[in-house]
Amino acid sequence: MKQVPWIAPSLLSADFARLGEEVRAVLAAGADIIHFDVMDNHYVPNLTIGPLVCEALRKSGITAPIDVHLMVKPVDRIVPDFAKAGATWITFHPEASEHIDRTIGLIRESGCRPGLVFNPATPLVWLDHVLDKIDMVLLMSVNPGFGGQSFIASVLPKIERVRELIDRSGREIRLEVDGGVKVDNIEVVAAAGADTFVAGSAIFGASDYRATIGAMREKIASARRGA
Ligand code: DX5
Ligand code: ZN
Repeated sequence: MKQVPWIAPSLLSADFARLGEEVRAVLAAGADIIHFDVMDNHYVPNLTIGPLVCEALRKSGITAPIDVHLMVKPVDRIVPDFAKAGATWITFHPEASEHIDRTIGLIRESGCRPGLVFNPATPLVWLDHVLDKIDMVLLMSVNPGFGGQSFIASVLPKIERVRELIDRSGREIRLEVDGGVKVDNIEVVAAAGADTFVAGSAIFGASDYRATIGAMREKIASARRGA
C-alpha cells in the first residue's frame, strides 16, 4: 500500500542568499514537498533556520507543503511557532522529547501532521505505542547535522521493516528517507519501501533541477515496476 512518491528537496543545500527563488525553482522542476531542516547546535552540531524563514517563504507566496524536520532539543517550545509560520508536516526525534505522546498531540493540535524521525542507530521500539497517532516515519540514512554525507546502507532493512509495520497498521503513513539519497541509489531506497525521498545536495548541487528530479522519478518507477 505504497503512496504516490514524493520528492522532497532539502533546503540545507540551497543557496540561502536566494532562498525564495530556489524553492520556486525546485517546485517548478517537479518537487512535491519542501524539506526544511531545523538545527539548534545542541541536539545536532549545526545551526540552520527557524520559523521566521518558514513564515517568510509562506509570505512570499509558497503554497507547497513544507516538511519541517526538527533536529532540536527540547522540541515542544518551538512546535506552535512552526505551526503559525505555515509548516505542514512537523517531524521530531523521539530521544529529543521527554514526552513523545504529548509532542505528537501538540503537533496535531497545532494543525500540522506529526512524524517521528529515527537516526541510523535509533531503534524502532519508539514506534510501538504511537504508530496509530503519526502520519510519517522518517528514517535517517546519515547521522543528522549536515548535508552532503554518504548514504548508510544499513538503513535498507530498517526501511523494509517500517514498510511492513505501516502496511500492517492499515493507516496512511508516509515513509520518508533522508540523507545521501541520489539518482544512483534512490532505486534501492524505493525498492525497500520508501515513498518520500529527501534529497539536498543531489538536487541543489545539480545544474539542472528538472532533469535530476525527473531521473529520480524514473528510478522510483522502475523500482515499483520490479516490486
Ligand atoms: C541532515 C538533514 C538532511 C540533509 C540531506 O541532517 O536532515 O535533510 O539535508 O542532505 P543530503 O541529501 O545532501 O544528504
Ligand atoms: Zn532532514
